[in-house]
Amino acid sequence: MKLRINDKEMEVDAEGDTPLLWVLRDDLGMTGTKYGCGLAQCGACSVLVDGVVTRSCVTPLDAVASSAITTIEAIEETDLGKRVVDAWIRHQVPQCGYCQSGQVMAATSLLSETAKPSDDDIRAAMINLCRCGTYNAIKAAMKDLAGTSEHADGGEGMDIGTGAMVAGGVAVAAAAVGGTLAVRSSGRNNKTGGEGDA
Ligand code: FES
Ligand code: FES
Repeated sequence: MKLRINDKEMEVDAEGDTPLLWVLRDDLGMTGTKYGCGLAQCGACSVLVDGVVTRSCVTPLDAVASSAITTIEAIEETDLGKRVVDAWIRHQVPQCGYCQSGQVMAATSLLSETAKPSDDDIRAAMINLCRCGTYNAIKAAMKDLAGTSEHADGGEGMDIGTGAMVAGGVAVAAAAVGGTLAVRSSGRNNKTGGEGDA
């Protein structure tokens, strides 16, 4: 099967129902995209499929065979992706960094659709989990990118991802239990391509 990844055609030897994340990491060695929950909940595995943030852990190859896939390895090759990464650096967002490629993907997808997202837009789109709790830094970087930093409220007015959050119709309760992230979700607004859609 041929896939178009980061503007290159790549031949992969895998069944059509294989999750895209497996192929990216194990077959192609593109390990910038992370495995978190494997259940379409945490967002660590996010990539762009035709520009839309997509959870690759539940997206089968068959669903993306004719699509343009972008991973974190190539995100800075677009002006927008580079602006997002620059903002992430400027605001010192990453802590351990594990979730951050997915966060950058979510941010890039939002900004490609809405150049100047409102606080509500940001709250609804930036729903990936971060066990290091970088949510305030993500918020600051997003408001910088949206050009609304001067109205920043010091972290009180727009809570994103506080471990238990309600955003854009999404209710997520997360708990780290014995090193395993257990997540309960009543819904989600990220695109997924497989049976993991909730
Ligand atoms: S690893 Fe895909 S959403 Fe968590
Ligand atoms: S920076 Fe560590 S999980 Fe997000």
